[in-house]
Amino acid sequence: MSKQFDVIVIGGGPGGYVAAIRAAQLGKSVACIDEWKNSLGGPAPGGTCTNVGCIPSKALLQSSEHYEQASHHFADHGIAVKGLSMDVAKMVARKDNVVKQNNDGILYLFKKNKVSFFHGRASFVKAAAVGYEIKVTGAAEESLTGGQIIVATGSSARALPGTPFDEHHILSNDGALRLTAVPKKLGLIGSGVIGLEMGSVWRRLGSEVTLLEGLPTFLGAVDEQIAKEAKKAFDKQGLKIELGVQVGDIKTDKKGVSIAYSNARGEAQTLQVDKLIISIGRVANTTGLNAEAVGLLLDERGAIVVDDDCKTNLPGVWAVGDVVRGPMLAHKAEEEGVAVAERIAGQHPHVNFNTVPWVIYTNPEIAWVGQTEQQLKAAGRAYKAGTFPFLANGRARALGDTTGMVKMLADAQSDEILGVHIVGPMASELIAECVMAMEFRASSEDIARICHAHPSLSESTKEAALAVAKRTLNF
Ligand code: FAD
Ligand code: NAI
Repeated sequence: MSKQFDVIVIGGGPGGYVAAIRAAQLGKSVACIDEWKNSLGGPAPGGTCTNVGCIPSKALLQSSEHYEQASHHFADHGIAVKGLSMDVAKMVARKDNVVKQNNDGILYLFKKNKVSFFHGRASFVKAAAVGYEIKVTGAAEESLTGGQIIVATGSSARALPGTPFDEHHILSNDGALRLTAVPKKLGLIGSGVIGLEMGSVWRRLGSEVTLLEGLPTFLGAVDEQIAKEAKKAFDKQGLKIELGVQVGDIKTDKKGVSIAYSNARGEAQTLQVDKLIISIGRVANTTGLNAEAVGLLLDERGAIVVDDDCKTNLPGVWAVGDVVRGPMLAHKAEEEGVAVAERIAGQHPHVNFNTVPWVIYTNPEIAWVGQTEQQLKAAGRAYKAGTFPFLANGRARALGDTTGMVKMLADAQSDEILGVHIVGPMASELIAECVMAMEFRASSEDIARICHAHPSLSESTKEAALAVAKRTLNF
């Protein structure tokens, strides 16, 4: 006997669990199915984000940043540290505990919102009289029927052809977050978001880190001026980033991993490391869903094809998050999940992709929203730019962290803010004001006229807005 629900959500990551909660808030009977297992085989909802992504990476970034501060920067404040050491196992155990708190939090939220949770793998069986039949394969097998289905099955690390992850020498994000000792030499293929964040963690703890990037430009999607500033900081820290490489044979033996590659000048090179992290992007999770049983349309990369409203080719089937087009970000998945739940309930929400912020949690942090200067130039849009360096900000000086700047781009005629790009301390928090400003279609003058607390890093945002009109007060 199949259990009936108004809405079945497949996947309990940030796209899925949030969609399930919102649909339940709107009065629907909801099931959420997720297969992630903790180390004891129990349920661990939260997806990539909670288990092997956003949360654990930020926990390790925080621990390693404390260590870096204590090793190199406390002395500037007159604090002497003797006998400093790093207990990697304890750092990893703390990270695991942070993850568990988040897993448990989601299970609590399901109970609170009366979402029925099923631990196991979901696959389509067939279209039913109303909706679709879904099979759950886990500790027990279940049959569920849902009028509306939301697929939020996320993504997994992309492997290099011929070099599968063994999570011992060749690591995905999963293995990279589970290392229990600091590798003497660490290699990373891909100097994108994961490469920079994971490379930073292990460099701070003492690894000699080399990133091999295929593209000739560093962080090509980031505003050029900001990427240049960030690269300068990473070079100074000792992160070795080689651009324009072509990776060849990768061999593993007892000693570690050897990577043959040609550098930007076409010269043959070999990199010998103890561990290698492959961070070259991610692929949508659609294998095992049995999409073909109901004719759910996938694209050539295996992602589910959706329209702007996250509707698939099938009536009553929706898909959100990493398994569909667009940036692979937890908050983008959440926004889509909420919007789909509201559409199912007859509402008319809108997700503004132009105001989805990006953050790279390195030191300095990199954060942006809207368009880059290169994009505006390419589109032939007339714009004004204003920048303000943290070097001229009192709070940044007091913090002892004056790297970077805030850069604001506004339309030349209307003054509407078109993009804000930040590299520097707490960029992840500063960007929120800019996202809100763009959502409300604020002008740079609006920001310039708002009273910002002193001394605060946010004054740099106000000063960047003043800089758009060439009237900074403190620079
Ligand atoms: P997922 O989080 O991948 O969740 C999908 C869930 O569905 C998983 O639990 C999976 O087990 C389950 N599932 C899949 N198939 C089935 C099935 N057939 N049956 C049942 N369950 C199934 N994004 C940010 O915004 N900020 C960050 O700081 C950030 N850091 C990251 C760091 C790393 C190392 C990585 C790898 C990613 C990071 N991301 C970050 C990206 C973020 O994790 C993803 O964008 C986000 O998790 C996508 O959410 P989702 O719900 O679409 O999918
Ligand atoms: P990415 O797309 O950020 O970077 C991949 C990099 O690998 C690119 O620079 C690409 O040019 C390079 N590359 C691809 N193939 C290569 C090859 N064969 N040889 C050498 N270089 C190659 O992907 P990444 O870092 O794997 O992260 C995946 C996604 O996870 C991100 O795009 C992001 O959406 C999400 N994420 C978000 C975070 C955040 O918001 N702070 C943190 C970590 C991940």
